[in-house]
Amino acid sequence: MSLLEIHNLKKSFDGLEVLRDISLQVNQGQVLGIIGPSGSGKSTLLRCATGLETPDAGEIRYEGTFGLVFQNFNLFPHYSVMKNITDAPIKVQKRPKEEVYAESRALLAKMGLSDKENAYPYQLSGGQQQRISIARALAMNPDILFFDEPTSALDPELTGEILKVIRDLAAEHMTMVIVTHEMNFARNVADHIIFMDKGVIAEQGTPEEVFGSSNERMKEFLGKFGENA
Ligand SMILES: Nc1ncnc2c1ncn2[C@@H]1O[C@H](COP(=O)(O)OP(=O)(O)OP(=O)(O)O)[C@@H](O)[C@H]1O
Ligand SMILES: [Mg+2]
Repeated sequence: MSLLEIHNLKKSFDGLEVLRDISLQVNQGQVLGIIGPSGSGKSTLLRCATGLETPDAGEIRYEGTFGLVFQNFNLFPHYSVMKNITDAPIKVQKRPKEEVYAESRALLAKMGLSDKENAYPYQLSGGQQQRISIARALAMNPDILFFDEPTSALDPELTGEILKVIRDLAAEHMTMVIVTHEMNFARNVADHIIFMDKGVIAEQGTPEEVFGSSNERMKEFLGKFGENA
């Protein structure tokens, strides 16, 4: 079953065509990896898909709800960890407090952060903050989770922590769309990969197909990561 369908999406900024006729589909349980050079439109695609940006043309169809995890965590600095996670489920989704707290504690345990319930974001490492922001997104029980470069603000060790969390979610069949510059990760965790270049999908397919592609732009891009990433 497809949870998200995007048809012929277009978006320009000041005459610059950033998305030129993008169509894609995300099926239940699928992990879609989106790769491509800086400025190719990856974040704009995610922002349009999640309503943060209004497309100029095209159609976006959802079956269910989505959550979003940003590069820079975007936790509320004046809220404790627990309040960051529980606030929207209680206030927006109007779910019972006890239920939300129990679920949130389980999510914190899963992220290995049970002892941080009362901490504030400034007291946490970048990797811990990012795990909290993943817990916050999961607390809304989304059908699809979007990530925009979830590890690019982190050093290699903390990056590993986050990639493990995402890998575990994939093993639980969480439907995810992940924009990443981590080529090995994309290759290992994604079922389907989209390579964006200058606002179009220049190549797509299974990781084997895309990373083995003879597309010149694709090869040039992968070359920059050395050793085919
Ligand atoms: N709000 C905006 N106003 C004007 N131009 C924008 C805006 N958002 C994005 N752009 C432009 O759109 C293009 C695509 O940007 P986008 O952020 O989608 O790229 P990206 O593929 O996510 O790049 P990166 O890998 O560096 O994150 C860039 O040229 C960018 O300058
Ligand atoms: Mg981006």
